[in-house]
Amino acid sequence: MTDYSIPQPTSGDIVDLITADHRLLEDLMRAMRDESADREAARVAFSDLLVAHSEAEEDNVYPKLKSKKVIDGEEEEHGEEEHAATNEALLKLLQAKGTDTQKFEDALEGVAEVLNHHIGEEELSILNPAREDASEELRQELGTQWLVKRNELLESGAGSLENVEKIVKKAYDDGLLPNDEQPQE
Ligand SMILES: [Fe+2]
Ligand SMILES: [Fe+2]
Repeated sequence: MTDYSIPQPTSGDIVDLITADHRLLEDLMRAMRDESADREAARVAFSDLLVAHSEAEEDNVYPKLKSKKVIDGEEEEHGEEEHAATNEALLKLLQAKGTDTQKFEDALEGVAEVLNHHIGEEELSILNPAREDASEELRQELGTQWLVKRNELLESGAGSLENVEKIVKKAYDDGLLPNDEQPQE
């Protein structure tokens, strides 16, 4: 994989769309591990996609699936907590100055650990119920709505260091991350 441009479809089944993004995030993590790849370009694409993907899930997918009783409040909140933990690990990755350093590689493995866990859990506990219990019409509707938000965030460079700092700070304020771990300013 040498081209890190992120596709921006405008319609589709929400389950297929989210799953395709998960595979893309996994590919980008693999590229960041590869010394012969353009790790910096992969980091930029990964950060933008991860933030846009997760924020758009929280914005309309989780709440809508909850209101249709496909998932419950606990599953929604657990997803949000995992997004917060992933964003916190992403922040460390963005704070690494270069990409050919031990600090970068350690931070990358930190993100990979929390993100791989979240992807597995989301596909099992949110996407499987959506396949089973959400109508084809609802899945298409959610797909369109999610893409509008996701693509808008991608265009706005949602994965910038400044924006990720802001999102992590808000997660602490909202109690989604344990407070004793808040980094010193
Ligand atoms: Fe996801
Ligand atoms: Fe997610």
